[in-house]
Amino acid sequence: MMRTSYLLGFLLPHAIDAAALNFAYETTQLTAQEAGNFSAISFGNFTSSYQKPRCKVQPEDAAWPSEAQWARLNATVGGHLLKPQPVGAACYPDRPEYNNATCAYLLGPATATRFFFNDPLTALTTWGEGATCLQLRNTTGRTCTQGGFPVYVVNATSVRDIQAAVNFARNQNLRLVIKNTGHDFIAKSSGKGALSVWTHNLKGIEFLSEYTVGEYKGAAARISAGLEAWEIHNAMVEAGNVTVVTSLEATVGNGGGWALGGGHGPLTSLYGLGADQILSLNVITADGRFLTADMNQNQDLYFALRGGGGGTFGIVTSMVVKAWPKETRIGGLTFYLTTGPGAVTIPSARGYPPPPPLHVADTETFWKAYRIYLGFTKQIVDAGGFGFGDVNPQGNKTFVLVGTMMLPDYPPDKIRDFYTPLFESFREIGVNIPNPRHAYLPYAQRGTGITPTSFPGSPADLLFISRLLPRSLWDDTAVGNGTTSRLDGVSTVNRQNAEMGYRVTLRAYGPTAQAAGYPGNTTSAVNPAMRNMVIHCVTFKQEPVDVLPPDQFAAEHAKLRGRINELVRLTPESGSYFNEADILEPDWRTSFWGEHYPRLLSIKKAVDRWGLFWAPTTVGSDEWRVVTAQGLPTQNGPLCRAD
Ligand SMILES: Cc1cc2nc3c(=O)[nH]c(=O)nc-3n(C[C@H](O)[C@H](O)[C@H](O)COP(=O)(O)OP(=O)(O)OC[C@H]3O[C@@H](n4cnc5c(N)ncnc54)[C@H](O)[C@@H]3O)c2cc1C
Ligand SMILES: *[C@@H]1O[C@H](CO)[C@@H](O)[C@H](O)[C@H]1NC(C)=O
Ligand SMILES: *[C@@H]1O[C@H](CO)[C@@H](O)[C@H](O)[C@H]1NC(C)=O
Ligand SMILES: *[C@@H]1O[C@H](CO)[C@@H](O)[C@H](O)[C@H]1NC(C)=O
Ligand SMILES: *[C@@H]1O[C@H](CO)[C@@H](O)[C@H](O)[C@H]1NC(C)=O
Ligand SMILES: *[C@@H]1O[C@H](CO)[C@@H](O)[C@H](O)[C@H]1NC(C)=O
Ligand SMILES: *[C@@H]1O[C@H](CO)[C@@H](O)[C@H](O)[C@H]1NC(C)=O
Ligand SMILES: *[C@@H]1O[C@H](CO)[C@@H](O)[C@H](O)[C@H]1NC(C)=O
Ligand SMILES: *[C@@H]1O[C@H](CO)[C@@H](O)[C@H](O)[C@H]1NC(C)=O
Ligand SMILES: *[C@@H]1O[C@H](CO)[C@@H](O)[C@H](O)[C@H]1NC(C)=O
Ligand SMILES: *[C@@H]1O[C@H](CO)[C@@H](O)[C@H](O)[C@H]1NC(C)=O
Repeated sequence: MMRTSYLLGFLLPHAIDAAALNFAYETTQLTAQEAGNFSAISFGNFTSSYQKPRCKVQPEDAAWPSEAQWARLNATVGGHLLKPQPVGAACYPDRPEYNNATCAYLLGPATATRFFFNDPLTALTTWGEGATCLQLRNTTGRTCTQGGFPVYVVNATSVRDIQAAVNFARNQNLRLVIKNTGHDFIAKSSGKGALSVWTHNLKGIEFLSEYTVGEYKGAAARISAGLEAWEIHNAMVEAGNVTVVTSLEATVGNGGGWALGGGHGPLTSLYGLGADQILSLNVITADGRFLTADMNQNQDLYFALRGGGGGTFGIVTSMVVKAWPKETRIGGLTFYLTTGPGAVTIPSARGYPPPPPLHVADTETFWKAYRIYLGFTKQIVDAGGFGFGDVNPQGNKTFVLVGTMMLPDYPPDKIRDFYTPLFESFREIGVNIPNPRHAYLPYAQRGTGITPTSFPGSPADLLFISRLLPRSLWDDTAVGNGTTSRLDGVSTVNRQNAEMGYRVTLRAYGPTAQAAGYPGNTTSAVNPAMRNMVIHCVTFKQEPVDVLPPDQFAAEHAKLRGRINELVRLTPESGSYFNEADILEPDWRTSFWGEHYPRLLSIKKAVDRWGLFWAPTTVGSDEWRVVTAQGLPTQNGPLCRAD
């Protein structure tokens, strides 16, 4: 077996040892003897005498662990226990952390660095935490409190650290959260009064030229839980001739929540979702034990962890994913259409050379072009590609449509043949994009993990709702006189939403069973609606919502939800994407998992009888609820049983 290791970004010589299939940080484990010596970290053994507590313990409760116990936990985890304050405290004159220069740094220079990723508390969605310590230049009349941020964080450096944290939280009845990048749009990695397990610093990637499990025999990559897409890309560039499915967004946690909850990216129509790549996972379960789940062992967990969602069944420390022993290049193209009298801001084209934006004088024609592109997206998916169609409202009845297609292994001639019919259809309605430009670039590109969405209060801090548009919409052309199909309905609703000021984005990809291949096409927890989808349609408010007063927040949510319900009415058989969804998704069990929900719930109950792992919208999450002062769907309140 040939192995090349890239640990912590450096190329290391690696001894060939087929038996040592774990990363070094996974070989350091908690022993029964050590756990027996400190009862607070003893392993779990569920018994029928277990007394279900009503709520998880909060710092003000008598049952909160003593300083001595925390200190002993800290010693057990090698001094990696943190008790961090929210970084925004630097902006509040009444806080001991107040420092005007630091505050200025947070608001400016820090957003162009990895600062927030290396912070143990920061969640990109500040409203989901409770917006209790916003980084603002003017904080007059505001306060900074710990709110929905965890109280303690284990900066995990080994399996042993995580086992100790899991056992400690379970035995002391603490709320436990898992944080990786903190990208989750509903702040699943926050929790008031919680002990957090922070997987961000578990870094490693190793390509395996041959890996065998079940019927799979081929190339693979072992990736650590803390790895982000850009780090996988750097390793692919370094190794050469290897392709791994990754997220488009460079800083998403590909070894964490991304793959566990589905995980789409530019190669998804060709090779499936992140979850479809998983051949094996190493995971710490609620009893504190460290297991491997694959086709041959712990099969229920293997099923659940491929699409059933992060933060639910255990803490994954690494996974083995499929790899293709070849370079992949992407044929890419972007075009811009604008309409309306206002000035426009043109968003970036993700590396493709865009032609100048074409202004469409007649607004009705602009929306006809949108409808044509919406229809065309199915061809992008069927060609194994990934498409975008984003309408950005700019005020003053002015809109920009950004169309992007990324086609794996489409060299220049092939991509020209592919897009020509689309541009001809545009021309037939008088939209003449004179000089389309395309590129053919390697999929793996070096990166630094710094993006415009990597900081709190960033453009990621939004009310955000997803709906999957099924393939059947594209087959449904013959309703009425051909102009009133369900796809026309979608086009009309999206136009109305953009006219109301929402940003309406299409992500066209199709992780069919065929694309997923083996073992993704065996039973997994991936949302069955994703097997038949063409588009993940995401609608959101343009402005960050974190500073809205509670009643206004609730009204904004209800308004957006009402608009998405129009899409739900047109797609009753479909669902939505768990990783980019509404915290108040109606009918969420079916929407996220369809027919898999009952099996997922029974697995959850079997592997976590204590209800240790909890995050909003996850399998079994309705057994608990966060009690917030203002009734908002944030993590800023104690977690109590729902009944
Ligand atoms: C700017 C931005 C761009 C995005 N782009 C994409 C995209 O291109 N494709 C896509 O599919 N999604 C995308 N997403 C959504 C993304 O998939 C989710 O936010 C996902 O939850 C991120 O996982 P994480 O581990 O990075 O984040 P976190 O917020 O740290 O974790 C998310 C959830 O997963 C759990 N979790 C994390 N690590 C583990 C682990 N090791 N074991 C068990 N549970 C774990 C956490 O408890 C939490 O519930 C994007 C999000 C943002 C903010
Ligand atoms: C048990 O804990 C004590 C300190 O409380 C320590 O001195 C001893 O080494 C521990 N034994 C083991 C096996 O960890
Ligand atoms: C778990 O508890 C049961 C009942 O008390 C006991 O018989 C069993 O040995 C325990 N198992 C472990 C692994 O401690
Ligand atoms: C844990 O121990 C380390 C090393 O002794 C120390 O620096 C750190 O402050 C401790 N953490 C807490 C929360 O006390
Ligand atoms: C704080 O920093 C800002 C921006 O750097 C500056 O404009 C302001 O004058 C500073 N205020 C104080 C009180 O120092
Ligand atoms: C700061 O905010 C307060 C409260 O909203 C407001 O009254 C005040 O005018 C603001 N100050 C500045 C300098 O903008
Ligand atoms: C977490 O641990 C890593 C590895 O030891 C270290 O590099 C990093 O500085 C720690 N982070 C914090 C916030 O303590
Ligand atoms: C990739 O593979 C091709 C074809 O086998 C070979 O010509 C090329 O040298 C390889 N590139 C690298 C970086 O290994
Ligand atoms: C809005 O459009 C009108 C023309 O309809 C134009 O006169 C005005 O300048 C525009 N305003 C902005 C802010 O673009
Ligand atoms: C098709 O039906 C729509 C809606 O009923 C109607 O507005 C339109 O005029 C019809 N078009 C033709 C060509 O019949
Ligand atoms: C799954 O995909 C493999 C190709 O990777 C194929 O050989 C197999 O027939 C497929 N099985 C099912 C049930 O679709």
